[in-house]
Formats: sequence, C-alpha cells, structure tokens
Amino acid sequence: MNSKVESVLKEIENFKATSEKELEEFRLKFISKKSVVTELFSEMKNIPNDQKKAFGQQLNEVKQAAQNKFKSIIDNLNSSSESGTQDHVDLTLPPAGREIGSLHPLTIIRAQIIEIFERIGFNVSDGPEIEDDWHNFTALNFPENHPAREMQDTFFIERNPDMLLRTHTSNVQARLMKSGTPPFRSIMPGRVFRNEAISARAHCVFHQVEGLYVAEDVSFVDLKQTIYHFAKEMFGKETQIRFRPSYFPFTEPSAEVDISCQICKGDGCQLCKYTGWVEIAGSGMVDPNVLENCGIDSEKYTGFAFGMGLERIAQLKYQVNDLRLYTENDVRFLSQFKTGL
Ligand code: DAH
Repeated sequence: MNSKVESVLKEIENFKATSEKELEEFRLKFISKKSVVTELFSEMKNIPNDQKKAFGQQLNEVKQAAQNKFKSIIDNLNSSSESGTQDHVDLTLPPAGREIGSLHPLTIIRAQIIEIFERIGFNVSDGPEIEDDWHNFTALNFPENHPAREMQDTFFIERNPDMLLRTHTSNVQARLMKSGTPPFRSIMPGRVFRNEAISARAHCVFHQVEGLYVAEDVSFVDLKQTIYHFAKEMFGKETQIRFRPSYFPFTEPSAEVDISCQICKGDGCQLCKYTGWVEIAGSGMVDPNVLENCGIDSEKYTGFAFGMGLERIAQLKYQVNDLRLYTENDVRFLSQFKTGL
C-alpha cells in the first residue's frame, strides 16, 4: 500500500472525537473538499499507469474509512448526549408549580354584593344586555325627549332603532315587575353600555347592580336601612351613609347615596374631592307611573329601587384609580386579587 495512503488510514482509525468541535475537526481534515483525502486523489496524476488501478482502490478504501468513522463519531455523540439528558431528569423532584389564576376584582365584588343582599332576603335576577327602548326607557318613565335617548349617550342598534345596548340595569326592574305580582325583592347585577370616550374615569362598558323591593307598605325607611346594612357589611361597621336629594325619571322622591370616604376616612382626599363623602348609588321610591307601566297597582304597592356601579365599589375597596385596568387583562393587575373570596 502506498505509504501516504497508509498513514492517512492510520490517522483516521486512531482519531478520537468526543465533542462537536472534534467532529468538525475530523470533517475538515478527512471529509471536506480540502481534506487530506481529496489531496490524495489529486496525486493520481503522478502515479504510473500500471499502478493507477491499485492506487484508486486504496483511495476508495480511505474515503470509505473516513466516511464510516465520521458516521460512527456522530452516532457516539448522539447516544452520549441522549443519555446525558436522561441523567438530568430527577424523578424525585416535585413538579414545577402551575400558576393558578384569580377571579376578576369585579367578579369578587359582585359575589360579595350578592351574598350581602341574599342574607336579607333578596334574590338575583337577570336581563338582556341588548334591550328594546320600552324596557330601557319608556317603562321607566323617561320622557320622549330625555337626553339619554340621544345617540350621543346611548348605543342604538342601527338596523333596528328600537333596539339598543342597555344604558343601565334598571331595564331588569321593568322585566321583573312585568313577569308577575309583588312582592319582588331582587338585585340585578350586569353589564351596561354608554357612548363615552374611554379614559381613567369613564368607559363605554361598565357594571351596575340594581336593587328593587316592591311590596305593600315599603317606605323610604326600608331603603335607608337596606343601604345602611349594605354599606356596613361591604365597607365595615364604622361606615356612614347619607342621602342627597336628586332626580331620576323612575323614582320619586330620588336620592343619591354617599358613603364616608374609605380612603381618608372622612378627613378629605382627592378621591372624595375633600368632602369626606363618595357617591356609590342612585336610589329612590319607585315612581307610581313605573309601577303602573308594568301592570302593578300603585295604590296597593310601593317600592324602592337603587342602582350602583360595581367599578366604583371595587375602586373604594381596592383603590383602583383607573377604570381601564378592569378591561385591559394585565396579569400584573389581575394577579393581585388571588385571595379574593
Ligand atoms: N339607572 C340609574 C343610572 O344608571 C341608577 C339608578 C338610580 C337606579 C336610581 C335606580 C334608582 O334603581 O332608583 O344612573
């Protein structure tokens, strides 16, 4: 055998490669276009004709040997890296913990409100978010030209101007009263929509909880006690309430409900605009027109109603100062409510 061929063969046989780097060294030296094997092939032209055939056979032998070796190095590397990863799996370790989600703050608040009212005999009613004009406005004594009926304030469904996205949960009052005979004692949580530009203090989608109690001899005292009970249960025993005269088409008399500011405890801060009070609801005695519109005898029955904003209650409980946080789905915000209920 040609001595050069013989020494290359020996080199191939003795080559030790235990890493990717050494594999690459082998490839460059024995497999690539610039390898010693390719160099040997170029020697062919210097070989006398009668020896060419034997030399050619030897070259093929070297080439084959280089390729076999190359393949076996790869196989070795693969199998050692596989057994390497297996070595790293420790089956006795406890599994990596999974992130547990949390309830949305508004879901927590809604559940708390329901619980508080259920304890004093209120059940929960539900109504549609896509509502007709009658249940959202007419039944509730809104005059024909009331500004809430304008496009600027309400999302109307273009194809059918009689349909709209409810602007408050008061529509469920009308549906409930039409569905049977008093007594009704119900709260109605839900999503409402108004045609407002989104900012820290306003949103086109928000949540309310409506309350309605219609029976014989229901008076403003019952309204006051019910709201007082709620405020103390929700915000703590020290919480004060006050009623301010107001106007709603569906209640007479009407009142705005304030509670003592939860942030400054009445001392005055930015949230309560230095008054010590924050508004949480609208309320009043159900207007007799509304009772009659819904087929209820207003001589026999009286009732009170209220409507409050869930976002406002959550803001006071959790000091959330930007309404947009409720809809942005930012886990940094949401994960703070893990202990929720
Ligand atoms: N529907 C009113 C609103 O969205 C809130 C409200 C006020 C509801 C007084 C009532 C009520 O039931 O009696 O602003």
